[in-house]
Amino acid sequence: MTNKTEIERLTEFRPGDLDALCEATEEAIAVSIGFDWINMPSRQMVEKYWRGVLLVPERELFVARLDNAIVGTCQLVRPAVNNEAGAFNGTITAFFVVPYARGHGLARGLLERVSDHARSSGYKMLSLDVRETQTAAISLYESAKFVRWGTKPRYAFVDGKYIAGFFYFKMLDQEQ
Ligand SMILES: CC(C)(COP(=O)(O)OP(=O)(O)OC[C@H]1O[C@@H](n2cnc3c(N)ncnc32)[C@H](O)[C@@H]1OP(=O)(O)O)[C@@H](O)C(=O)NCCC(=O)NCCS
Repeated sequence: MTNKTEIERLTEFRPGDLDALCEATEEAIAVSIGFDWINMPSRQMVEKYWRGVLLVPERELFVARLDNAIVGTCQLVRPAVNNEAGAFNGTITAFFVVPYARGHGLARGLLERVSDHARSSGYKMLSLDVRETQTAAISLYESAKFVRWGTKPRYAFVDGKYIAGFFYFKMLDQEQ
């Protein structure tokens, strides 16, 4: 039987969504990617985080579902209201798919959905950054024509070691 896959922008939680997001987040934190938590937060704190994502106007939440359950997510973040000069740029963050749901094209689907939404919302550019260790994500971004413009040698500090980070942009109003 083939799995049902869906990508959507989430504006309210359906039954089971918040639990699924919390479980996926805990999994991502356990392997130390996708979020900047190092120590596992309480379930209450993770729930509060996701409720906050839906509440704050500068964040838009996108989710990937496999057989109706949320298994992946990413956010599009708008610049702060005082940053009129940078209002053309949206930032993609907190992007991951849980390990058992990988390889179904969900991450590519999320990235395309966010890019289409950003373009139709009037953004001219997307930015994102990623640890140099995230080879699957880097391959996805580069195949989606994101351009690497910089490397920060001290991007994250995990288990007593610095990890470098790569910075990317993609113009939404120009073919690359
Ligand atoms: C990166 C990630 C989101 C990909 O999720 P996914 O649903 O398996 O990806 P898809 O099935 O949509 O694959 C899309 C592309 O990703 C790349 N990719 C996926 N898995 C890969 C792997 N193991 N090695 C290399 N490239 C890979 C490929 O370019 C692939 O395109 P292709 O299928 O045309 O070859 C997932 O591996 C993940 O959550 N990783 C940990 C979190 C992370 O690194 N997040 C990003 C920044 S914080």
